[in-house]
This record gives sequence, C-alpha cells and structure tokens, in this order.
Amino acid sequence: MSTYILGIESSCDDTSAAVLRDEYLLSNVMASQEVHSKYGGVIPELASRAHQINIVPCVDQALKRAGVTMQEIDAIAYTRGPGLLGSLLVGTSFAKGLSLASGKPLVEVNHLQGHILSHFIKVEGAQNESPQFPFLALLTSGGHTQIVKATDYLHFEVLGRTIDDAVGEAFDKCAKMMELGYPGGPIIDRLAKEGDAERFKFAKPHLPGLDYSFSGIKTSLLYFLRDNLKENPNFIEENRADICASFQKALIDILMDKLFKAVKETGIRQIALGGGVSANSALRNRVRLEGEKRGWKTFIPELKFTTDNAAMIAVTGLFKYREGLLSPLDAAPISRAAEI
Ligand code: KG4
Ligand code: ZN
Repeated sequence: MSTYILGIESSCDDTSAAVLRDEYLLSNVMASQEVHSKYGGVIPELASRAHQINIVPCVDQALKRAGVTMQEIDAIAYTRGPGLLGSLLVGTSFAKGLSLASGKPLVEVNHLQGHILSHFIKVEGAQNESPQFPFLALLTSGGHTQIVKATDYLHFEVLGRTIDDAVGEAFDKCAKMMELGYPGGPIIDRLAKEGDAERFKFAKPHLPGLDYSFSGIKTSLLYFLRDNLKENPNFIEENRADICASFQKALIDILMDKLFKAVKETGIRQIALGGGVSANSALRNRVRLEGEKRGWKTFIPELKFTTDNAAMIAVTGLFKYREGLLSPLDAAPISRAAEI
C-alpha cells in the first residue's frame, strides 16, 4: 500500500507545501516572498506575516494539484527547525492545527536533513538516481554551510561547519556591497558568466579541520572595493563581471578545498550537493568536473530542489514515518541548528 505524505516548509522566506505518494512527487507548491528584495535581506517580521497569508492557499493547492484529499494523507511532515523562529511558528502551528482537525499524525523534520535527502525525491518519468549510503553532502545555503556524512535516512554527522557566515551570505553581501540587488547569489552567478575569474585574488581562510569561515573573505572584498573606488569611482561599474567571477571562484575554491579533505579523510566518494547555493552554475560545473577527474559519483539537485521546498520535507518525513518516528503536539520550533 502506498503512503501519502503532506509536507509543509516555512523556515525562512518561502512558504511551500508538497504531496508525495511514497517517494514520488505529486505536487510541490511554492510562494516566494518578493517583499524582502527592497530591504536587501529577509526581514523576519515580514516573513512570518507572509507565511501567515500564504500557508493556507499553498496547502490547499498542493492537495488539489496532487488530486489527494486530506483523508488519504497518512502523515503531515513539517519543518521544526532550524530557521527564523516567527516563520517556523507559522508552519508548526498550522501543521498542529491540521493534525488535530484531521486526526493525521505529525512528523517533525530538520530542514537541513531535508536539503540532504532531497536527492531521494522521485519524479514520474525521470531517471531518479539517488546516492548510496554513506555519502557526503555539501550543504550550502543562506543560513548554513556544512559538510555532512549521511549514514542512512535517519543518521547524519556534521563533519565541518562554518564558524561565522554562511557561503550564501557571502554571495548576498558581495551583491549588496556592489549594489546589485537581492538575493545576490543568482545575480552574481549571472554576471560572473561574462567575467574573468582569474583577474582578482581574495584572501582565503586558513582554518584547520573541515570547518569553514567566510567572514574574512567578505572583509577582503570590502577593502578591495574601497581601495579601488578611491582610485577610480567607476571601478565597480567598469569591472563588475570580473569582480563577480573572481569572488565567486574564491568562494567555490574554499568550498572545494574542504570537500577534497573530507573525501580524503572518509574515503567516501559519493558526493551530493544541497541548499540554495547549489543552484550556482559554476559550483555545479566544478563539482561535476572534479567528480569526473577524481572518480566521484556526484549528485547535483534539479534547480527546483536546491532552494527551500516542501518536497524535501515530505520525503524526509516519509522516511521517519516508516520508522514510526511521530511527533507530539507540544513540539516547539527550534531556531538553531546546533540544538536539533
Ligand atoms: O536554501 P536557501 O533557499 O535558503 C536558506 O535556507 O538559506 O538558500 C538561499 C541562498 C541565498 O543566499 C541565495 O543568494 C543563494 O542561496 N543562491 C545562490 C544562487 N541561487 C540562490 N547563490 C549562488 N548562486 C546561485 N545561483
Ligand atoms: Zn534551506
């Protein structure tokens, strides 16, 4: 018999609901919040309000597009954290209310595990090749940068994490310094395609082990722009593509150096990307090329599964549901990754 899971995601600035029949995706509805772009970053208060507006229509649409009624759903999977507390509260409270009203059990999902397990979502008619355990996940988003060893569907070990900024933040702050718009990642990705990635060099961190740091390189870019603007007020305008390409390459080099180290230390050669920054075309190409060169099997998510989505929450919920891991009605959201 098939299992039907309704997934709900509201950890940051995307409201999303999805329905799965076993691992197969039946619907994945997203409502992104445009409201933050004019502020150059996510405003938590506005994010929670927008979730409040979007969540009911999102869930309703997800069920309708899947052609599934609430009676047919076996469990409701929701993101318990990490994320913005106000945003998480909307999804958590909604999921609990729906659980009470429908009598369907709840399954809480760790958002980061969702990004990692997004590789197990199956789409009708697609190839659907998934990593084999154990595999390494390079998880890169606006809030997180981690190398995680996935042992099975339920067990994950964080081998390295950022000690300060996430790589997505470095992309976004770079774009902000250059007044390019928000979110910066996709804009830098696009501009970098026309630029020379070897033209400028930025100081890279020297951190032992597998941890990352991105605050130094951000400062390095700030001083670099400030110094060059003193000499030439049009420096950014005249060199935009080269700055973007060089800065992007520096970020990717930092990501890759630790990944090489993790592969060497663990001997694991199945590598999966996940999180918003894995939409970056240069990172995707680099991982693909290094994989071919080094004999890795690489898993690069479809673009629609890179940013926050409820399909990844539903598939993670499915694996927990199969193991009987249900959640109580008094589970409160958890905003920090370290506490999950
Ligand atoms: O996973 P995500 O949607 O939300 C978080 O959980 O943070 O990631 C959002 C981050 C933002 O920092 C955004 O700039 C970045 O992903 N991003 C990209 C690209 N698309 C999104 N960064 C680089 N290149 C891209 N193409
Ligand atoms: Zn995310």
